[in-house]
Amino acid sequence: MTAGTATARIRVGLLGCGTVGADFARLLVDRRAAVEDVTGISLELVRIAVRDPRKPRPEALDAELFTGDAYDVVKADDVDLVVELIGGTSAAGELVTTALEAGKPVVTANKELIAKAGPDLFAAADRAGVDLFFEAAAVAAVPILRPLRESLLAEDVTRVVGIVNGTSNFMLTRMTADGLGFDEALAKAQELGYAEPDASADVDGADAASKLAILASLAFNRAVVADDVGREGIVGLDREDFELAARFGYDIKLLAVAERFPDGHAIGAQVFPALIGRDHPLASVRDSFNAVFLTTSAAGELMFYGHGAGPRPSASAILGDVTGAADQLLRGTHRRIPVGSPARLRPARDLVHSYYVRADVEEAPGVLSEVTGVFARHGVSIRTVDQDGSESRARIVFLTFPAPEHALDDALEELRGLSRVRGVGRVLRIHK
Ligand code: NAP
Ligand code: HSE
Repeated sequence: MTAGTATARIRVGLLGCGTVGADFARLLVDRRAAVEDVTGISLELVRIAVRDPRKPRPEALDAELFTGDAYDVVKADDVDLVVELIGGTSAAGELVTTALEAGKPVVTANKELIAKAGPDLFAAADRAGVDLFFEAAAVAAVPILRPLRESLLAEDVTRVVGIVNGTSNFMLTRMTADGLGFDEALAKAQELGYAEPDASADVDGADAASKLAILASLAFNRAVVADDVGREGIVGLDREDFELAARFGYDIKLLAVAERFPDGHAIGAQVFPALIGRDHPLASVRDSFNAVFLTTSAAGELMFYGHGAGPRPSASAILGDVTGAADQLLRGTHRRIPVGSPARLRPARDLVHSYYVRADVEEAPGVLSEVTGVFARHGVSIRTVDQDGSESRARIVFLTFPAPEHALDDALEELRGLSRVRGVGRVLRIHK
């Protein structure tokens, strides 16, 4: 680090040069002069750690920069700032901690790590007096974490609703618009660099749950970790559900929803595929685009929208963080990430939603009233019924009014036990 001259030099060490790391390295090289022009800081990539230094790497990167030992980067005297793009929690967590303890600011895109160990890492950064920035960890290129930490710091945020996983949103869009099958849509998302190294996290809701934990922690100033977030993914969604949803005027989206309730500040946090009205702003978020919708007391409703996945959009957010952290390092300051006390969670069973329920039943007199009677007994009120069938069987779709999850679960259990009910399809929540 050289300060006090017209141009200050910050030496960057990079951990990981895979899908995101390689694009970040390219962008850093491409944008170096522009960053220097605007900030007076020259960002120089001096070391890159990878698992296998013999693999081919982008041509623009000098082979001499690469090492197979990541500790050569985090402990090096000639590295001022570390960028972690390895992913996972164990090796990455130890490396980030080592870098922070050595007084190096860290920028990471690792949502899994921040959603699991954020409070400990923020404390380590604060003790060392350096920054830990992670804008790319939640909805990639969309600047949302810095606005939550800075612009909206004094706001009373009551609700966060987002489409926060680019892979699943891309898949749902392509499955609906082009009729792609699940595996084909996933392969395409992987090819475009949207998916995680282990893509099951994208489709089972784990990636979205990590991002929601990060967003909720900053929005509500309460420590929310990934395990606090209830989650259901997009695996097992049936083509028939897409068709029926469309018939009722809805799209199906994987939503991440966190809410802070007025009573005692309990928080509910869930990720689930949901029916969303086609006139809702989030319904227009397609492909790998993401959006986060905030409800606040003074600013009202705010929506943040943009590319939520992909190496280049992620590299943009990472470079923004690197520039910010470099600037703070040269000024000898850092920004404390507020770590609230652990969130008091409202159990999922007490959260209230409207539901879409599809049941296959025997076609016979009295079946409909038998089924609606079950809902009534458990206090779940039906808003719309749609029945379609042949001489021997019928498919009934119910859209309900809001009811707590425990009431719906009890109704479903009883429904599944009825002899004239042949099956109950996947139940989806309806987002208002
Ligand atoms: P990736 O393609 O699997 O790349 C991982 C890189 O880390 C590889 O270069 C690998 O080396 C290196 N590596 C792994 N273990 C290492 C170790 N112990 N020491 C040194 N290097 C090691 O992963 P990715 O898709 O780029 O994801 C990186 C991070 O970005 C993840 O945290 C992910 O969640 C996050 N992210 C991804 C996106 C996206 O759109 N894809 C967006 C935002 C955030 P080799 O090349 O030798 O194998
Ligand atoms: N796999 C992630 C997604 C990358 O699809 O959203 C961006 O965090």
